[in-house]
Amino acid sequence: MQRTLIWDLPTRLFHWTLASSFALAWLTSEGDRWRSIHVFLGYLMLGLVVFRLIWGFTGSHFSRFSSFWFGPKEALDYLKQVTTKHAPRHVGHNPTGSLAIYILLVMSVAVGLTGVVTLGGDEQQGITAGWLSFAQVQTLKQLHELGAIAMLLVVAGHITGVVVESVLHKENLARAMVSGFKMAEADTPKATAHPLVAVLLLLAMLGFGGWWFYYAIDKNIDNQAWHIKMETGVGEEPHVKFVGKQLPDNKLWRDECGSCHAVFYPALLPERSWQKMMAEQDQHFGSDLGLDGATTAEVLQFMVDNSADKHLTEAAFKIEQSVPKAHTPLRITETPYWVEKHREIAAADWANPLVLSKSNCAACHSDADDGSFEDGAMHIPKAPAKVASAASQP
Ligand code: HEC
Ligand code: HEC
Repeated sequence: MQRTLIWDLPTRLFHWTLASSFALAWLTSEGDRWRSIHVFLGYLMLGLVVFRLIWGFTGSHFSRFSSFWFGPKEALDYLKQVTTKHAPRHVGHNPTGSLAIYILLVMSVAVGLTGVVTLGGDEQQGITAGWLSFAQVQTLKQLHELGAIAMLLVVAGHITGVVVESVLHKENLARAMVSGFKMAEADTPKATAHPLVAVLLLLAMLGFGGWWFYYAIDKNIDNQAWHIKMETGVGEEPHVKFVGKQLPDNKLWRDECGSCHAVFYPALLPERSWQKMMAEQDQHFGSDLGLDGATTAEVLQFMVDNSADKHLTEAAFKIEQSVPKAHTPLRITETPYWVEKHREIAAADWANPLVLSKSNCAACHSDADDGSFEDGAMHIPKAPAKVASAASQP
C-alpha cells in the first residue's frame, strides 16, 4: 500500500464549490434580500455540473464516469454489504456513493433550471422573465422548493455514507477529498493533478462572479435612495435583471396615458376596469381624454392583453384576487389589495412633498414605470431636509 493521488485538483475544486454553493443557496433562499446571491449560486451550480459532465470523460482515472459506472442494483447490494460490515473497500467511488453522485448531478440541474424559470415568472427577472406569469409559475416554484428539500436529503445520505465508510475502512474520506491522496495498492491507476484545469475553472468562476455582481445585477440605487437605506435600513435591493426583459410595453399607451400623470401599468387593474375607463373617457377624473377610435382601440387592446386578469406579476395576481367580481374599480388605490398593502403608511409620509398623492406610485416604487412593483424596489422617501442631513453624515 502506498500514498497515491486519487482525486485530481479539478474534481476536488468541483466537489467543495458545489457543496458550499448548495449550502449557501439554502441560507439565501428566503426573501428578496439575498436573492441576487441565491440566483448566482444556482447558476454557479449549473455551470459546475456542466464542467463535471465534461470532466467525467476527460478527467483522470477515478474522476471518469467509467470508473464508477454502477447500476442501481449494485448500489443496493453494496448498501446491504455495508449493513453486514462486509463491504469491500473501493479506492474510487463505491457503488452506493456513485448513485448519490448521479442523483445529485441530475438534481442540481433540475433544481437550478426550475429556479431560473421560477425567477422569471415570480419576479419577472432574469433570462426567463416573461416566459410564464406569476400564477403559472407557482407549481414550478413548489417543485423547485421540493427539489431542494429532496436534494438536501440525498446530501444527508451522502454525508452519512462518507462517515460510515470512513469508520468501516478506517480512513478519512472527507480529508481525502481535500488532499486528493489515499492509501492504495501499487498497481492502482494514479491521478494527474491537472493544476492548469483547476486554475482555469477557478478563473472562470471568479470571472462569472465579477460579471454577475458588477454588470448583471441592476443595483439601480441612486444617491438619495442609498442614504435613505443607510438611515432606515429599508430600500432597494439589487435586482437580477441582466437580460433586461421587461413586461410588455406600448409607445402609444405610454404617450397617451403618461401625459397628465405617470402611466399606471395595465396589470394593476382588471380588464373590465380598463374597458369601463375607456368607455367613459370623456369623464376621466374630471378630464376628457378625447382619444380617437383607432387610438382608443390600440391602447385598450394593450391594457386588456396585460391586465390584472393575466396575472403577469405577483401584484397583478393579488389585485385581481382581491377585487370582488361585481366591482369595477377605476382607481388602483381603491382595490382591496392596494388598500391593505398601504394601510400602515403614516399620514406624515403621505404628506411628504416628495409623495403628496396616493397615485404618485413612483415616489415609493422606483420600478412603478415598468409595472413590476418588486418588494426590493420599494422605499418610502424621507422629507428632503432629512435626506440632506443624512447625506452629510460620514
Ligand atoms: C388629461 C389628463 C389625463 C390623461 C391624458 C390621462 N389621465 Fe388618468 N387621470 C387623470 C387625473 C386628473 C386623475 C386623477 C388623479 C388623482 O386624483 O390622483 C387620473 C387618474 C387615473 C387613474 C387612477 C389612479 C389611482 O388613483 O389609482 C388611472 C388608473 C388612470 N388615470 C389611467 C389613465 C389611463 C389608462 C390613461 C390613458 C388612456 C390616462 N389615465 C390618461 C388625468 C389624465
Ligand atoms: C408613500 C409611499 C407609497 C406610495 C405613494 C405607493 N406605495 Fe405601494 N407600497 C408602499 C409600501 C411601503 C409597500 C410595502 C407594504 C408591505 O409590504 O407591507 C407597498 C406595497 C405595494 C405593493 C405590494 C408589493 C409587494 O410585493 O408586496 C404594490 C403592488 C404597490 N405597493 C403598488 C402601488 C401602486 C400601484 C401605487 C400607486 C397607485 C403605490 N403602490 C403607491 C409604499 C407606497
